[in-house]
Amino acid sequence: MQPVVAIDGPAGAGKSTLAAHLARRFGFLNLETGAMYRALALKAIEQDLDFDEEAPLLELAHYTKIALEPQREGNRVLVDGIDVSRRIRDTDVTQAASKVSVHPHLRAWMVDQQRALGEKGGVVMEGRDIGTAVFPDAEVKIFLDAAPEVRGNRRYRQAEPVPQVTEEAILKELKERDYRDRNRAESPLRPAEDAVILDSTSMTLEQVLARAEDIVRAHF
Ligand code: C5P
Repeated sequence: MQPVVAIDGPAGAGKSTLAAHLARRFGFLNLETGAMYRALALKAIEQDLDFDEEAPLLELAHYTKIALEPQREGNRVLVDGIDVSRRIRDTDVTQAASKVSVHPHLRAWMVDQQRALGEKGGVVMEGRDIGTAVFPDAEVKIFLDAAPEVRGNRRYRQAEPVPQVTEEAILKELKERDYRDRNRAESPLRPAEDAVILDSTSMTLEQVLARAEDIVRAHF
């Protein structure tokens, strides 16, 4: 069976870029699990649900069809057949995704879906708990990290210019999400014991990609 490559780490560390690169390089599927939490969060917003109440969110999940279609860069995301790929990147959905993802039963439901998507191997799966919860036996585990200020700055430079969005606001939002991800009771964000930790704070993108390629290649 082809390997599962698990890429975890905090927001803005460059996981999506790395996952897309590795998937292209090795001919694997690229699956962004964060997009699934975002897709459900979008539907929760549309239905005016309380993000702190798990039961209605879980019920919503049970009758929502979330599809990830791997593209050359990242995933096209469909909710009940509607393309929401752009909308789920908006700030309100980003924050809502971070809030709905704290709930343990909801996470268990997501993990089941994600395991089914990756069961045949040959995938680069990206998220927060891939190496610890979704595929604890993944052949390759990379935990991609960087200092918060560096991640905030990268996000700011990537974002489409919006006059009212400052770098400070992006950094604040990113730190809030980190805090929630790292401190939730159910599968908090942390490196798996057997993960290779890549701290990209002082690395160029090219260096990160090259190092990660070496890590994957070492498993063939
Ligand atoms: O990776 P992305 O920023 O798109 O994820 C959105 C949110 O979904 C994260 O802030 C995190 O709270 C949650 N998430 C998660 N577990 C994953 C992927 C994402 O809790 N495997």
